[in-house]
Amino acid sequence: MTDGGFTLADRLPADYFTTTLHADVRDGLGSAPRTLPPKWFYDKRGSELFEQITRLPEYYPTRAEQEILTRRAPEIAALTRATTLIELGSGSSRKTRLLLDALTATGTLRRYAPLDVSAPALEEAGRAISRDYPGLTVSATVADFETDLALSDEPGPRLLAFLGSTIGNFDAEQRGAFYRTLSHTLSSDDVLLLGTDLVKDPEILIRAYDDAAGVTADFNKNVLHVLNRELGADFDPDLFDHIALWNPEFERIEMRLRTRTAQTVKIPDLDLTLDLAAGEDLRTELSCKFRRDALTAELKEGGFTVRHWWTDPAARFALVMAVPNLKRL
Ligand code: AVJ
Repeated sequence: MTDGGFTLADRLPADYFTTTLHADVRDGLGSAPRTLPPKWFYDKRGSELFEQITRLPEYYPTRAEQEILTRRAPEIAALTRATTLIELGSGSSRKTRLLLDALTATGTLRRYAPLDVSAPALEEAGRAISRDYPGLTVSATVADFETDLALSDEPGPRLLAFLGSTIGNFDAEQRGAFYRTLSHTLSSDDVLLLGTDLVKDPEILIRAYDDAAGVTADFNKNVLHVLNRELGADFDPDLFDHIALWNPEFERIEMRLRTRTAQTVKIPDLDLTLDLAAGEDLRTELSCKFRRDALTAELKEGGFTVRHWWTDPAARFALVMAVPNLKRL
């Protein structure tokens, strides 16, 4: 490995998008309740809309996490002395710079390894970081961390950042599987840094997912445009209402698309015809919210010991540092 520079390795199978999208849509829309996985929001327009969401007055998680990182990054750098920063679902890598700055100041960091399903996002963000951090080796990987968590075996300690409360998109069972895989993949001196949005007043949560400007509604409906384009489907996004509801049993926001009228949707590429009743929902995203005790317990169960729990002053969001079980930091 040379010093500095940017490389991109594509680890997605050649037919990944077609195969996965077909299976996801067939399985999801054919089940009760009908669901679509949130990863299909993020085409070019969806990624732009998400960037807009992060700047909305109602959508506090990005700013809250940024506040924590700004305050704690030097401490994180000192505690971990990481040589490699791995980031899952890196997207635009904006918050990552706070960690890169601190780890660079500490002088231990050699390598930044972002992993995302979007090659264009990795190209853009990775090249910019490579330009702005001379001497840092940026090795990006195009992969789906839900199915492929193979990490580079560079000398550690490695800091693995999974920010933005993306973990909240998984239900409890998926989170358990994810923690177990990850805890087995990490070495004894590696550290997990997990960003998690916290349970709070449902009014505040609902507003964060149903903003006044309607950006989140457009983001939600964008998945129908993706299906129309990629599968030849004929969804009319205007016939759907954007719904953000709080599920108190599972303490999660559920985004749904609710058809106002009964409609028949054709999805030619899947040989599928969908009969939707008036008022029927497609569930497009889970956004689970967390509590300290329960999260600590589920991490323990998944092979991690929580070492630090940092929140913003308003305690809206938590940044959790955890290590593989039985190992010390
Ligand atoms: C990117 C999954 C963290 O759940 O808050 C924002 C996505 N959806 N507004 C979240 C999202 C609607 C976001 N995550």
